[in-house]
Amino acid sequence: MVRKIGVLTGGGDCAGLNSAIKWVTKTATDPILAAHHGDSLEVIGIREGWKGLVEVDPGDPESMAKWTAPLDELVVRTWDRQGGTVLGSSRTNPFNPKINKGEKCVDNIKALGLDALVAIGGEDTLSVAFHLYHDLGQKVVGIPKTIDRDLNGTDYTLGYDTALNVITEEVDRLRTTAGSHNRLFVVEVMGRHAGWLALEGGQAAGAHVILIPEYEFEVEKVAQLLEKRRQAGVRYDIVVISEGAKIRGQAEVYISDKIDSFGHKVLGGIGETLAKQLEERTGFETRHVVLSHIQRGGNPSARDRLMGRNFGIAAVDLILEHDFGRMVAYRDGIITSVSLKQAIERLRTVDVDKYYDVHRYNGQRSSLLNHLAKF
Ligand code: F6P
Repeated sequence: MVRKIGVLTGGGDCAGLNSAIKWVTKTATDPILAAHHGDSLEVIGIREGWKGLVEVDPGDPESMAKWTAPLDELVVRTWDRQGGTVLGSSRTNPFNPKINKGEKCVDNIKALGLDALVAIGGEDTLSVAFHLYHDLGQKVVGIPKTIDRDLNGTDYTLGYDTALNVITEEVDRLRTTAGSHNRLFVVEVMGRHAGWLALEGGQAAGAHVILIPEYEFEVEKVAQLLEKRRQAGVRYDIVVISEGAKIRGQAEVYISDKIDSFGHKVLGGIGETLAKQLEERTGFETRHVVLSHIQRGGNPSARDRLMGRNFGIAAVDLILEHDFGRMVAYRDGIITSVSLKQAIERLRTVDVDKYYDVHRYNGQRSSLLNHLAKF
């Protein structure tokens, strides 16, 4: 019998998380549903992701107030309209050998009386969820989120749509100043290993050149594409580049060598590098803009609110079915679920043959006649 569930958000924040928390809570505590399935659930929010589960001392009321929050319909009523996560987030990895707090998580799940746990996160957060389920026998389900949209097994991850809208809006703003000054703008967007944000954001915003981590680019080729446009009479241009994109034969560009608990370095700087090299080669006055965390901010789009709702409801369905070790997912237009193992076994990156035109450095121009797209 499931009586009490915990919910937490881990990794980089994004829009749509609060909607998912709200709908986990509303569904779990819904008296009408409870009358049908017989399980009336209590919901506890764990603050700051896995950090909260590691740090909380369930016997100490002060610690409980600091690291947990009892949730009910009234508490979460207005959360879905807000970006970020009201519960807070962290990049704490309890299975990092330096921390080694996997067992502590299990003890605290027990001491908190949790019969199941909903982990809302990306690859890192869900890999912890998978270990807790697979290696330590905990009843965990996952909800996919990441503005990078690179989780395997799902066509949608929370935060992606809002981030795409931010990119589109910001490039629209840059367009007017770029046009007024006849300048070239290089816009760096997030996307550590996957170029979805750059590719679809760039397409939505009408960028002339889009550069993604999945295809190493040549600066000379980018310069030629832009020169051709100037010759055709276009006075300014926008290049959108993923933070993880690489110049052919070179490594990614990092802000620093500092490594987080999951082993990631902080990417950033490829936009600036490219802007400098393009200005040197073409002579066009060039500026670079790093959209950075602005992409994760703001109120959630309608799609992120709806997907947060759909995923939150589905996560409670999984719990009521006692179907643990799974992540809710959106595949081929329907809400479903996949194993946590499948979700984390690889990243869902851009299939270059299918979606990227390596001659134009932009999206494919054919959807149905794929064989023509290369020309
Ligand atoms: O994982 C999502 C992401 O948005 C990446 O695209 C980016 O590299 C990273 O988070 C930055 O995270 P933070 O600065 O919050 O640690």
